[in-house]
Amino acid sequence: MTTPIHECVINKKTTSKPIWLMRQAGRYLPEFREIRKLNPNFINLCLNENLSSEITLQPLKRFDLSAAIIFSDILMLPYGLGQEVNFKKNFGPELGPIDKDKISNINEMDFLEKLFPIYKAIKKVKENTLVKNKDLIGFVGAPWTLLVYMINKSSPKKKLIKDFFKDNYLINSILKIIEKFLKIHIQNQIKNGATVIQIFDSWAGLLEEKDLPNYVYMPTLNLVNYVKSFKIPVICFPREIKNYKNFCEIVNPDAVNIDYSIDPKLIAKQIKIPIQGGLDPKVLLSSKENLKKQALNYLDIFKDHPYVFNLGHGVLPETDPMMIDYLVKLINDY
Ligand code: CP3
Repeated sequence: MTTPIHECVINKKTTSKPIWLMRQAGRYLPEFREIRKLNPNFINLCLNENLSSEITLQPLKRFDLSAAIIFSDILMLPYGLGQEVNFKKNFGPELGPIDKDKISNINEMDFLEKLFPIYKAIKKVKENTLVKNKDLIGFVGAPWTLLVYMINKSSPKKKLIKDFFKDNYLINSILKIIEKFLKIHIQNQIKNGATVIQIFDSWAGLLEEKDLPNYVYMPTLNLVNYVKSFKIPVICFPREIKNYKNFCEIVNPDAVNIDYSIDPKLIAKQIKIPIQGGLDPKVLLSSKENLKKQALNYLDIFKDHPYVFNLGHGVLPETDPMMIDYLVKLINDY
């Protein structure tokens, strides 16, 4: 039995359009906010397998989505490596200093022990009937995006700290450590039931073309080939990368998620591999008429292309769940 996403991404079927949404489990859902209020420490919430599995399933209880995505965060990797990670209200993540020696000496058992509840949560979700015949998406941050958070210590918004590239030896050795532990994290997500892996490279757009081979193409290609060795699909999201075509030709994931600033018509023309996403999440804050028009525009453009419906970034916290309901029904009835 194949799932709708496997049919689309692996078998390249163009007849149906699966749908899931980045940040589908999150702050726009009152049932999530209720749990969140009682759990002010976000990392601990991710490490509570009963709650994180419940949160993962919340959107599937409401909407007929094609997949669940495990409730976790890309910054669980630096946490597993022993770097301090905090989520501050109205600010975002804040990371502690990097201890070069500690990070170079971390062993696999210590790392796995720290992240063990994530794998237990995946296992729990996998056993639930709500995900029967559907995918369970595991994910990681791409090496580059994790390096950005680990060195920059907070979201870079539009630019990196001034001396980001100063200690070339340090950043290249950290990049290697990140890559090694990402493989371990991916392997354990798959072993416990993840049937698709998405790689989020949220800060790919910060780099110039000359830096892409070292920081984005090569490390991501290594991870893509690693996921492929398990015979499950890997989807990349190199957000705001200037040239999606080059990225796809070099990295060649099973599918690529596009952001909302790129023209989907150009993508349909240039890119042969299956496509995912694109719709601006702000459209979900407008009217049903506009949402219908904009969503159908993506479906029309990718009519003859294997296409997984998704957004061009995560669902915004101020989104009305009724709009998600409307969108999911619209896509499933298409
Ligand atoms: O998609 C899903 O529903 C699965 C869960 C998921 C979360 N984060 C939960 C989360 C996923 C896939 C992520 C990925 C993630 N985390 C990325 C890549 C995607 C992107 O947004 O570019 C990044 C860069 C992060 C790091 C991160 N985590 C930031 C910058 C923030 C704070 C700002 C924000 O967007 O909320 C988080 C916190 C976070 N991760 C929340 C959730 C539901 C909000 C926590 C809260 O309730 O305050």
